[in-house]
Amino acid sequence: MCGIFGYVGKRNNASEIIFEGLKTLEYRGYDSWGIAVRIKNKKEFILDKNTGKITAPNLNKNKFKKNSDFAIGHTRWATHGRVTVKNAHPHLDCTKKIAVVHNGIIENYEVLKKDLIKKGHSFLSETDTEVIPHLIEENLKIEGFASSVRDAFNLLKGFNAIVVSFAPSSEIVACKTGSPLIAGGGDGEFFIASDISAILPYTKKVVFLKDNEMVILGKKLQIFSLPKGIKIKPKIEKIEFKVEEASIGKYKHFMLKEIYEQPKVIVNLAQNYTSEIKFLSGVIENAKGTFLIGAGTAYNACLAGVYFFSKISHKHVNTAFASEFNYLEDFLNKNSLVMALSQSGETIDVIESLNRARNKKSKIAAITNVLGSSIYRMANYKFLLNAGPERAVASTKAYAAKLSVLLLLSYSIIGKTEKAKKMLLDTAKEMERILNDNKSKKKIKEIARLMSLNSHIFVIGRGVSYSASLEAALKIKEVSYIHTEGLAGGELKHGPIALISRGTPCLVFAPKDETYDSIISNATEVRARGGVIIGISPQNSSAFDYWIEVREIEEGSYIAQIVVVQLLAYYIALYKKLDPDKPRNLAKSVTVK
Ligand code: F6R
Repeated sequence: MCGIFGYVGKRNNASEIIFEGLKTLEYRGYDSWGIAVRIKNKKEFILDKNTGKITAPNLNKNKFKKNSDFAIGHTRWATHGRVTVKNAHPHLDCTKKIAVVHNGIIENYEVLKKDLIKKGHSFLSETDTEVIPHLIEENLKIEGFASSVRDAFNLLKGFNAIVVSFAPSSEIVACKTGSPLIAGGGDGEFFIASDISAILPYTKKVVFLKDNEMVILGKKLQIFSLPKGIKIKPKIEKIEFKVEEASIGKYKHFMLKEIYEQPKVIVNLAQNYTSEIKFLSGVIENAKGTFLIGAGTAYNACLAGVYFFSKISHKHVNTAFASEFNYLEDFLNKNSLVMALSQSGETIDVIESLNRARNKKSKIAAITNVLGSSIYRMANYKFLLNAGPERAVASTKAYAAKLSVLLLLSYSIIGKTEKAKKMLLDTAKEMERILNDNKSKKKIKEIARLMSLNSHIFVIGRGVSYSASLEAALKIKEVSYIHTEGLAGGELKHGPIALISRGTPCLVFAPKDETYDSIISNATEVRARGGVIIGISPQNSSAFDYWIEVREIEEGSYIAQIVVVQLLAYYIALYKKLDPDKPRNLAKSVTVK
């Protein structure tokens, strides 16, 4: 949540660099944004703050464009304070020499603010962040810049990441107790960002800042521990990454690009991770109790995993929303395994759950898409999805990747990894067919148009397809703003069927598995009450008003069938003239509670 980007160095277009970086980071928060720029040889910052999407900053239109060597920027997802220009970051101190951008929530900001007001500081915004530059301004009366930042940061309660620049010093100081920060560079210039993708166009050498660390970027890169400030040797990592992976290419939206990337992601997982899968499935087998945790789409993947492990490996595995896990953790002990699924590797609820698991000495496994992310680093056992950067807020390819890994693990436990690999290759082919077959696409668009005219949509499935129903409903609601509910088919008659009226669209997952007959009965019941049934199935049925074919690939069908709903969600958003990449009120990575 919130994107941070900072530059200090030898170039003279810092404002442009920050602007480009913020565009890359915009998916992390997009209600407002801002840049603080120092014009060369001046000793204070000038601000350019705006609400809404990132457009060309005013600063770029004039003399700053080619005359700035020091700048920080921020793209915001509001926590404290409304979405206004004043509340957008960066925030300055009274002297305008200190500029701060922040990700997180300062739990004790009210006390700090009262104290600073008593000391004569004036505040321009409603944010918690604004206490930081003023605290630093106070500390600067008695100590140097870096220690002023450190001492101010040590006063903040909560999980926070801050990047501070001090115009007279040409130094950036950043600290964190939560939320990602990655520093990179060398050779006379440094960058710092919330996400590696903003830095990689400039350098492949990066340092992932750990929690309770501070970095100073100036003439060199130095790391110190918090709260005390003891020097630590930086661990510089070289990142192999193709910039084009993060660019939109020929697609109109990242969501569509990422939907189309899924076959490639699945083939990669099927072909290249046999030993990692064998190792991790061994860990699961030996654990005395495994808990899968995640949030949102990642939780929906966890739930699919529970069915996979039961159905394929005959193994009992638990799951919970990461945010609910602390009410269920009492039985954990040193023999338990907590397996976190997270695309970003930065979801705060997951991190908190893992901290608790660690306190109970349980082992932690992480299945994540971001190398060096907090969750990746916390884990005893790490598995990287290698799905490439996911930029659309609605998760698509990471979901397919998580399901593929869970399928491989479930089959590996029973010694049949090769069967799962073959199944995944067939799944990728089926996905390609759905994605590229003009007839299927035409039908999907037609159904999307019909659905876009409704205010309620239902999705039903049983077994693994129940978890798919939850994921389908989440995908549709988040990009189309249409109320969509995913339900277990058997639960309809226990209440929700009261909501079905004439013309209500109901998506039905009906793969040819043990759920088929029962889910068709449920579809018939909905249809009898006026619902319009859209069947996603290998075969047509008299229960369906519309049928979208997903061919039979055993458990691979559960992965292939989701692509249909991802496309439906995407096209519903387009019919409603919404931006599917940046749904309202959301941000890609949820780093605050
Ligand atoms: C939905 C979506 C979210 C995320 C959730 C967890 O499309 O993207 O529900 O799945 O915020 O995020 P990660 O996987 O990064 O932990």
